Amino acid sequence: MKNTIKTFQQMKDRGEKISMLTAYDYSTAKLEDAAGINGILVGDSLGNVVLGYPDTISVTMEDMIHHGAAVSRGAENSLVVIDMPFMSYETSVYDAVVNAGRLMKEGRGGAVKLEGGVSVKEQIKAIVSAGIPVNAHIGLTPQSINAFGGFKAQGKDTESARRLIRDAFAVQEAGAFAVTLECVPARLASFLSEKLTIPTIGIGAGAGCDGQILVYADMLGMFSDFCPKFAKHFANVGEAMKQGFADYDAEVKASTYPAPEHTYKVDDEVFEAAMDEASKICDAR
Ligand code: KIV
Repeated sequence: MKNTIKTFQQMKDRGEKISMLTAYDYSTAKLEDAAGINGILVGDSLGNVVLGYPDTISVTMEDMIHHGAAVSRGAENSLVVIDMPFMSYETSVYDAVVNAGRLMKEGRGGAVKLEGGVSVKEQIKAIVSAGIPVNAHIGLTPQSINAFGGFKAQGKDTESARRLIRDAFAVQEAGAFAVTLECVPARLASFLSEKLTIPTIGIGAGAGCDGQILVYADMLGMFSDFCPKFAKHFANVGEAMKQGFADYDAEVKASTYPAPEHTYKVDDEVFEAAMDEASKICDAR
């Protein structure tokens, strides 16, 4: 059954946990979908994980559309949420609606996600009014890395905790269907999950959230540039890949791959005709 924003709300209301993971391509989306993951985020972490940027600032609308469309083709049942990249919604309400529309029309997402609370309330309202579901993202918002001065947990001092609470209620009031809480103290995240009517999706925000999300390359041990405290390795795919690549390299160099069972056969008469053709070409030179 296709997961929708309604499914997410029903799961929260029934006290069932919501699972989300990121994906950036068709094959990964298919595997996550087959595993029963409720929602797939085409995160702008694409910039770090796939494109090799140091942060998410350089990710473009075209990047998000290209990868969003690939993921959407692979996700039969999971709800696909596509991130709005840096400066695609902050500039104006008009830009926000136009760009959210492109992620839906060209990226074929089921919802969009954007970072910020009180400061993007008008953008969320306008996008939702245009019929596009919005997943808000508060706490540590990586697009504001330069303003934060680094990847730091949020809500740890009084002013930051108050801001987090104001942001959470602002995005709910603006019509967001869910809110991602990134790197916030577990106690604050649990409190918000009880107080808000919309689902909270935590990443580094403890077990009290209504759902969880991780970057798939982090949880499979495929990305080693940096490893956040909350990124548990559920499998060591990175090591398995490295070993597979090394085995291939060794077999190619030892001429043990490809073996006869990996090759195609040709009939003798076809081979003779090919030799005949080759002699004609060589004789003519
Ligand atoms: O871009 C991303 O992957 C995200 C998650 C970390 C929530 O926004």
